[in-house]
Amino acid sequence: MTHDTPNREAEDGGLVARLSEDALKVRRYFPTLIFSLDVPDSEILNDDLIEEIYAERERDRTGVRKSNFPELGSWHSHVKLHKDVTFAGLVQYVDAASAMMCRELGYHRSYQLRIGTMWSIINPPGSSNRAHIHPGCIWSGVYYVQAPKNSGGIEFIDPRTQNLMSSVEYIPDTKRPRICWTKVQYKPVAGKMLIFPSWLYHSVAPNRSRAKGKDADRIIVSFNLSQERRR
Ligand SMILES: [Fe+2]
Repeated sequence: MTHDTPNREAEDGGLVARLSEDALKVRRYFPTLIFSLDVPDSEILNDDLIEEIYAERERDRTGVRKSNFPELGSWHSHVKLHKDVTFAGLVQYVDAASAMMCRELGYHRSYQLRIGTMWSIINPPGSSNRAHIHPGCIWSGVYYVQAPKNSGGIEFIDPRTQNLMSSVEYIPDTKRPRICWTKVQYKPVAGKMLIFPSWLYHSVAPNRSRAKGKDADRIIVSFNLSQERRR
């Protein structure tokens, strides 16, 4: 029996098996997918959305309490914004992105991903969103309408809770391989859409914008997608 890379002696006198670089195979199963889309011509879309979202807040100052903190000034709209004609342009991009996802993921062609709920959140400076998931749907998304500098990144948390059972020491001061991350943050960028699994825990850091007045507000539109049979 021959070896390209013969065993060698370890420091303690025992033998250490040596393997060629390509000897160990790996397959990546059960990935957590986060889709992103830079919406074309988003500046025009966002101007209309900003106007309509503030108008909606005037109509419904109380709003809804979900993962937001109304006591800190955060406002959450009702959840049927996709029925509002002002949001039709954004809905078209959500539909286009979700159709691409259906093809990518091999979903049954007799079904489509449809928006079940859509809402807006205005987070002024100091506001954030606690960690949460979106029950009762398959995919969820966020679209950034206004995102000034330091207005609060979204953080996704590793869903594999077994990682909490035993932590690993990594090489210090070195970026970990992405496959070993236990959280990931995205900076909000106006015009960007993220679509992620509804079961994936996520939170939003406090808005620390130093912009003046309403320019400091972090404004998003979020939505949930479910699979429905085509009509
Ligand atoms: Fe959320």
